[in-house]
Amino acid sequence: MKYAVITGTSKGLGASVAKQLMEASVHVIGLARGKNQELENADLPGSYKHYQVDLSDIEQTEATFQNIISFLKGQLVESLQLVQNAALVSPIEQAGKQDIAQLTAHVHVNLLAPMVVTNLWLDAWRDTDLSLVIANVTSGAANRSVYGWNAYGSTKAGLDRYTNTVALEQEMLGTGHKVFLFDPSIMDTDMQGEIRSADPSQFVDVDQFKNYKAENKLRDTDVVAKVLVDRLLNEASIQNGEYYSVKNIFK
Ligand SMILES: NC(=O)c1ccc[n+]([C@@H]2O[C@H](COP(=O)([O-])OP(=O)(O)OC[C@H]3O[C@@H](n4cnc5c(N)ncnc54)[C@H](OP(=O)(O)O)[C@@H]3O)[C@@H](O)[C@H]2O)c1
Repeated sequence: MKYAVITGTSKGLGASVAKQLMEASVHVIGLARGKNQELENADLPGSYKHYQVDLSDIEQTEATFQNIISFLKGQLVESLQLVQNAALVSPIEQAGKQDIAQLTAHVHVNLLAPMVVTNLWLDAWRDTDLSLVIANVTSGAANRSVYGWNAYGSTKAGLDRYTNTVALEQEMLGTGHKVFLFDPSIMDTDMQGEIRSADPSQFVDVDQFKNYKAENKLRDTDVVAKVLVDRLLNEASIQNGEYYSVKNIFK
């Protein structure tokens, strides 16, 4: 059976990716603090199993992924994909005015959890002939400095470097595992709502993001998810270490 493990499936992009993979007969294991009743009740060819977890809590994250690994080791797994999608944009604030607890949670969810999970994942399947696929969801913010997004830009840039480095290691080790980046560009999700609600003193470009919404420039997550899902369903087309952006599809 084909399996995909996706973080952040309670809403937004993660929920759309989960649904589309289930439509394509992939069995999805989803994670978030919240649940997703629609996915749990869906009557689709692929099943849905949810693990409630707070990815800012690294001990809880490790224990949850150990449970997922134990579950998968008991299944007949023919392909296994991991989509690390969960992330926070907050704190949106200039350095010097941030709450330390919020900053810590941000770095844990956006960067440390994906690193810890990747480490567990590659270790767990070290001695099998499964070719793993790991997609890490990034942002254009990794490559430009935006006033108020010092945390978000830094964790996404860190995730990019981490992904590229793990891809290089897997290439040199000849494992056949593929690790790549997916940039979804701007989507109509709660994360964008949070961005629009920032005060201009915290986020100088807030009006630009209000205009994206007003001018209907934010893409629907189902449209964006299809770009990633088409790629995941055609594993041979995935290049190890590649940066795959929605912007290259919708020019
Ligand atoms: N929206 C955009 O325009 C945009 C642009 C570029 C890149 N991205 C990236 O695309 C990805 C998806 O974003 P989105 O817009 O779909 O975001 P979203 O609607 O805010 O959803 C975020 C998901 O992450 C989960 N999550 C957040 N904190 C968590 C925690 N502590 N523990 C477990 N799960 C947690 C949330 O679940 P719970 O809250 O239920 O825990 C939710 O399912 C992110 O990596 C984001 O950086 C988004």
